[in-house]
Amino acid sequence: MIQAIKGTKDLFGNELLQWLNVENTIREICRYYNVGEIITPIFENTELFVKGTGDTTDVVQKEMYTFTDKGDRSITLKPEGTTPVVRAFIEHNLYANVQPTKIFYLTPCFRYEQPQAGRMRQFHQFGIEYLGTYSASADAEVISVALEVFNRIGIKNVKLYINSIGTPVTRKIFNEELKEFAQQNLDALCGDCVSRFKNNPLRLLDCKNEKCKQVMANAPSILDSLDDDCKEHFEKLQKILKYNNIDFEINDKIVRGLDYYTKTVFEFVCEGIGAQNVICGGGRYDYLIESIGGPKTGAIGFAMGLERIMLAIEKQNLTKELENKVNIFVGSIGDKGFLESQKIVYTLRQKNICAETDNLDRSVKAQLKYANKIGAAFACIIGDDEVANGKVNLKNMETGEQTEIEISKLYDYIK
Ligand code: HAM
Repeated sequence: MIQAIKGTKDLFGNELLQWLNVENTIREICRYYNVGEIITPIFENTELFVKGTGDTTDVVQKEMYTFTDKGDRSITLKPEGTTPVVRAFIEHNLYANVQPTKIFYLTPCFRYEQPQAGRMRQFHQFGIEYLGTYSASADAEVISVALEVFNRIGIKNVKLYINSIGTPVTRKIFNEELKEFAQQNLDALCGDCVSRFKNNPLRLLDCKNEKCKQVMANAPSILDSLDDDCKEHFEKLQKILKYNNIDFEINDKIVRGLDYYTKTVFEFVCEGIGAQNVICGGGRYDYLIESIGGPKTGAIGFAMGLERIMLAIEKQNLTKELENKVNIFVGSIGDKGFLESQKIVYTLRQKNICAETDNLDRSVKAQLKYANKIGAAFACIIGDDEVANGKVNLKNMETGEQTEIEISKLYDYIK
C-alpha cells in the first residue's frame, strides 16, 4: 500500500475540526489586532532562503526540500514563513504604504528533520510579522498576540523567555569572546558544537546536549555585550511587558536557529508536550529586509507550530465539542417519495439546515437505523401518501415522539 510520506499527516474528522477551530481563533484575534492575512506561494527561489534564512543555519544547510524544476531553476519548498513575507513586502512595495505593515499567515512549511512528536517534515505555522518599525512597543505587541492565542484556546503551562542578541556589530565582538571560551572547552563539546564553533558560534549557547549545556552555563553572557541602544530597547520591552502583567523570564542562552535575528529574541515553551516544547519562537530582524534587496526597515515577528498547539490541546484535554450536528434525516419509500425527499433536503440545505438523506438505496428500516447512527435530531420517511397529503410524521430521535406536520412547515419547525 502507498502510504503518506514519513513526517507528514492526513488531517480529517474531529481532529480537523479542532484544527480549524484554532485557525478561526487566530483569525479572530488578528482582526482585533488589525493584522491582515497574506498567502505566499509554497515554493520560492532557493536563493531567497540561502540569503534570508541564512546559509549557516541547520535549516538551510541540512533541512530544505530543494529541487531543480524543468526550467533548470533551483526551487525550495518554504521551510519558514518570514522570508517569503519579506520578499512579498519588497516586491509589492508594501513599505510605501502607511507603516507598520502588520501581516499574518497560516502556512505549511517543510523541513527534512527527524520526525518525532511535535516535529514533522510538513508542519504548519501561524506567523505574524510587523514590518516597518524599530519600536520596542511592536516587540511587546507581537508577544501579546501569541499570548492571546494561548489564552483564548486555554493552553496552560506556557512560559515566555526573552533575550537580546544585539546587532551584527556587537555580535561579532561577542562571537570572538565566545569562541575564546569554547576553545578552552572544545574537548567537552559534542560533534555538532565543534562545527558550530567554526561556523556559527552563537548556536553553541542553545545546544540541547546536557554536557554542552553544563559547559556553556559558564560562558560569557550575550547581554553583557549589548551596546546602549540595544540595552535601552531591551529595557523598554521589559517595562511594557511588566506594565501589561505579561510574565517573562530572561534567558541569555536563547539565540534562535535562524540567522536574521537582531536585538529581541523570544520563545514560548509549553511544559508537558514532549521534547519539542517550543510552541512559538520569534524575534526582531532589522537587517533582513535590506539584505534581500529592500530598503532599510526594522521588523519583528514570530511563528508558532500548529502541530505543537494541537499537542498541547490534546495533552491538556482542551478538545471542544465541535461535531457537525445533523438536524434532520429525510428518507423515502417508492419513486415518488424518493424524488420528493431529494427536493426537501435540497430546500432545507439552501436555508442552512443540515439535512441528510439516503445515498445507498437502503430499506426503510435501514434508513432509520442510519438516521440514528449519524445522530440526526429528527427523521421522516416520504412515501406516496406523504407526497399526496403534503404531510409527514416527524420523529424526534431523542424522545421517540412523532408529530404530524406539513412538509411546507418543516423548515419553521426545525429552525
Ligand atoms: P522557528 O523557530 O524555526 O522560527 O519556527 C517557529 C515554530 O515553528 C517553532 O517554535 C515550532 O513551534 C514550529 N516548528 C518548527 N519546526 C517544526 C517542525 N519540524 N515540526 C513542527 N513544528 C515546527 C521561524 O520559523 C521564524 N520564521 C519565526 C519568526 C517569524 N521569526 C520572526 N518572524
